[in-house]
Amino acid sequence: MSPAIGMHDRPPPAAGRAGRPALHVAIIMDGNGRWAKQRGLPRAFGHRAGVAALRRTVEGAPGLGIERLTVFGFSTENWRRPQPEISELMGLLRAYFESDLARLERDGVRVRIVGRRTGLDADILDIVERAEARTRKNDRFHLRVAFNYGGRADIVDAARKFALAVERGVARAKDLDEAMFEAGLSTAPGSAPDLIIRTSGEQRVSNFLLWECAYAELIFQDVYWPDYGPEHLKAAIADFRSRERRFGGVAADDVLAAG
Ligand code: FPP
Repeated sequence: MSPAIGMHDRPPPAAGRAGRPALHVAIIMDGNGRWAKQRGLPRAFGHRAGVAALRRTVEGAPGLGIERLTVFGFSTENWRRPQPEISELMGLLRAYFESDLARLERDGVRVRIVGRRTGLDADILDIVERAEARTRKNDRFHLRVAFNYGGRADIVDAARKFALAVERGVARAKDLDEAMFEAGLSTAPGSAPDLIIRTSGEQRVSNFLLWECAYAELIFQDVYWPDYGPEHLKAAIADFRSRERRFGGVAADDVLAAG
């Protein structure tokens, strides 16, 4: 193994269909507002249609060899939006779990919310914790909703956790390595996505999975999130599968040529 590559940066063990490794896909679900504007509708309608797209995506993902899906539901920066829109997004998270939790539980989906829990209303926290507890034993598919999540904030929180451990005398600064640091992120374990998709045509990372994206492939799709469906996900996976991932090493052919 190259010394530059940590365990967490390597592809997941083969577990998917047709002998292919099961994938972790992360999605920046962008374009809800523009989708609504295009139709002369309030932005809330775009977010509501976005929930339906999320449902379709969760249903379609396992059939495409995806085992983990992390979606960006609400960022630490989204608190800057107008209060009615914030309330709408909180309400949609609540409604999604109220309506879909039983099915997710039955379908073997393990749900986790990643991000900061401080600042969320008690009723949202309650729903989130209930969803996590009820699906804790599931392992067929992992759905992670990044909510009140920011990549930088998560790195700062992990750094603070480690600093506190040093302060308490239960960790030593000289022992810190990438794996130990990563364990402090809210996305751990299994943090690193193989592929990050952003919809709506925008080509930015927008503070999503900053640590975890180190070796992720990036795919930008020119479709507003509310229109997203399994056919778009299938196209993204086909694109991903056509790429060669080298993780800082060299192509397999070049290894042979060098030998
Ligand atoms: C970005 O579109 C989308 C969001 C900030 C929220 C994503 C939320 C959903 C898809 C609703 C479902 C969420 C959960 C967690 C159940 P935008 O509003 O920035 O769109 P715009 O760039 O076109 O204005």
